[in-house]
Amino acid sequence: MKIYRAKDYNDMSRKAANLISAQILLKPNCVLGLATGSTPLGTYRQLVERYNQGDLDFSEITTVNLDEYKGLTHDNSQSYYYFMNENLFSKVNINKSKVFLPDGTEPDSETACQKYNEILHAVGVIDLQLLGLGHNGHIGFNEPADFFTTETHCITLSERTIQANARFFATAEEVPRQAYTMGIKTIMSAEKVLVVISGEDKADIVKKAFFGPITPQVPASILQLHRNAVIIADEAALSKCE
Ligand code: F6R
Repeated sequence: MKIYRAKDYNDMSRKAANLISAQILLKPNCVLGLATGSTPLGTYRQLVERYNQGDLDFSEITTVNLDEYKGLTHDNSQSYYYFMNENLFSKVNINKSKVFLPDGTEPDSETACQKYNEILHAVGVIDLQLLGLGHNGHIGFNEPADFFTTETHCITLSERTIQANARFFATAEEVPRQAYTMGIKTIMSAEKVLVVISGEDKADIVKKAFFGPITPQVPASILQLHRNAVIIADEAALSKCE
């Protein structure tokens, strides 16, 4: 596990975009695992900028996202499909038939998860998986639990996650209570993982996740065992790891 210290959010975003750009340049038909949330926004902005400058080509890329809220349609502005479209897909020359997220509109959890697993198996190994870090140590929507999850599953969001995500909704009541998420085993099978983390509010969990014991109560702690994990965190997020 390599930890890179970034000066601030912009520096973190630029460093993360550098790594993703290198991945795309080295393997133009790679599979990128993508994340939503606020942290990767700057990284996506940088990637779009590089595309606009003619330095990146997304035409052969396949993407698989970590998660999607259960019950939200693509045109719902809170859905992760909508987020990805707004912040990346609609702004670059990506082939929309090669972008995948769990299907939030599938009401039957078992069917939704099975279908997404089939997609993940068909696209093959993820070359680079981008991750954010939840305040409780979640990655994707793999919440603290008694065991590490394997493949795609339906999760009931913890109260902490609902409160954290309420900032994107009019009220906390509107935050969907369930989501479909890629499992830890799939994340750990990625060739490389890249975690972006910013802000003092993440400092406690950064210390726990990457310097504490490996436990499913802190799902991100498993990344300590990944053979090619890169953490890019800003000074505020690393402030408790001196
Ligand atoms: C998003 C995701 C989540 C977020 C995490 C951090 O697809 O899977 O695990 O990465 O909740 O979110 P932010 O970046 O908003 O702090």
